[in-house]
Parts: sequence; C-alpha cells; structure tokens
Amino acid sequence: MNRTGQPGLIKVGLIVGSSRPQRRGPAVAGWVAERTAEHPAARAGEVTVELVDLAEQRLPILDEPVPARFGDYRHEHTRRWSTVVAAYDAFVFVTPEYNSSVPAVLKNAIDFLNAEWRGKPAGVLTYGARGGGRAAEHLRPILAEVGMAVLPSHVELGLFTDFDWSGQDRSDPTAEGRIAPGEDRAAMITAMFTELLAAVRTAGRDVVPAVGR
Ligand SMILES: Cc1cc2nc3c(=O)[nH]c(=O)nc-3n(C[C@H](O)[C@H](O)[C@H](O)COP(=O)(O)O)c2cc1C
Repeated sequence: MNRTGQPGLIKVGLIVGSSRPQRRGPAVAGWVAERTAEHPAARAGEVTVELVDLAEQRLPILDEPVPARFGDYRHEHTRRWSTVVAAYDAFVFVTPEYNSSVPAVLKNAIDFLNAEWRGKPAGVLTYGARGGGRAAEHLRPILAEVGMAVLPSHVELGLFTDFDWSGQDRSDPTAEGRIAPGEDRAAMITAMFTELLAAVRTAGRDVVPAVGR
C-alpha cells in the first residue's frame, strides 16, 4: 500500500543533502540507491527509489513571506519544490555533517515546505569524518517538527572507515576517495529500508477513511 492507502507502487526519494562542487553526496546516495535496488520489495517491483538532489533544485535562501505551514506559496520555485516532494511516499535523507549539524541547503529545503513532508516516514543516513552522528541528532527533531515519522534506526558512514583512499592522499581536502562500505553497512541500509516500507504501509492504512465508525 502506498501513501494514498491504495495498493500500488511506493515511491521513495533519496534526498542528497549537500550541494557544494566536488561533494561526496551523490556518490553516497548512489551507493544507497544501489543497495535499495537489491531489496526484495524493489526486485518485486513494489517500490521505486529516486535521487532528489538539492543542488539541482537551486532553491534560494527561504524567501516566502508566509510560513510554509499555511501552504500559501508565492514563488514558482516553491511550487516546483512542493510538487517534487509531494510525489513521494517516504524519504531517506542522505546528509553529511557540517560543523556538528546539517548543511544549510538541507535545512533550507525542509523549511520551504510543510504539508508535503507531514506524515511521511523518514530514514536518515549521515556521513562525515566520524560518521556524522551530530548531524543526525539535529536532523531528527527538524524532521519531527514538520510531522515526519522518523525511523529509530540511523546509518552512519565514516570517511576513514567506509571510503577507500588507495592511490589518494587522505590529508588532501580535495581528494574524493571512493565509497566502499562494508557488508555490515549494506545490511543496515536493507534493515532501514525494510522499516521504511513497513512505516509507509502502516501510514497508508491510517489514511483510509474510517467508514462506518
Ligand atoms: C563546511 C564543512 C563543515 C564540516 N564539518 C564537519 C563536522 O563537523 N564533522 C565531520 O565529521 N565532518 C565535517 N566536515 C567534513 C564532511 O563531512 C565531509 O567533507 C563530507 O564529504 C561533506 O559532504 P559533501 O562532500 O557531500 O559536501 C565538514 C565539511 C565541510 C565542507
């Protein structure tokens, strides 16, 4: 069941939460997409997973005069972003840790909308020098504030443990490394994705009209 409460394809968006040139975000999100494509539900054609890259959205710093909770969008870029987010049943937020928190581009993109996030399950995957746990600690209450059902599990990837630096100088800040997490991380993604789909199906049941009650 998808978010409309009807049997059908579940659409999951993988939010790429960074936007700088030479970022690692697309490689990390691409790795997550490959893992989720191997999930039995994806193989059975019950779910699709798509990257939602914030760099491509090119949102300005929040410029709406009315808070998103009122849904009174004045700008075309907000309406376009609203249409993108509204199309998904659930999200996995793939984000680095920037200065102990989430990148500004991600917080800004969340702040632009409200109803489009509400009630949807959210998984969190962070990456950073030590796995990005502090970004996750900040992101969880932000997602809860816009009414998302944040999963209890969270996956972390460490730049020095889940990337392969062979042939590159790890101390060079522009060296990109190659994402190469171990099997345990792949298993964590699968488990989180299973939880996410279960939450979508439960949320779908909740929105079925309570006829005769
Ligand atoms: C502005 C900035 C702040 C950062 N702060 C942290 C931090 O607080 N903790 C951490 O583990 N890594 C930090 N890093 C390292 C990033 O997690 C790492 O560079 C990661 O690849 C950034 O994601 P991106 O490549 O998708 O932009 C920071 C990087 C940047 C650019």
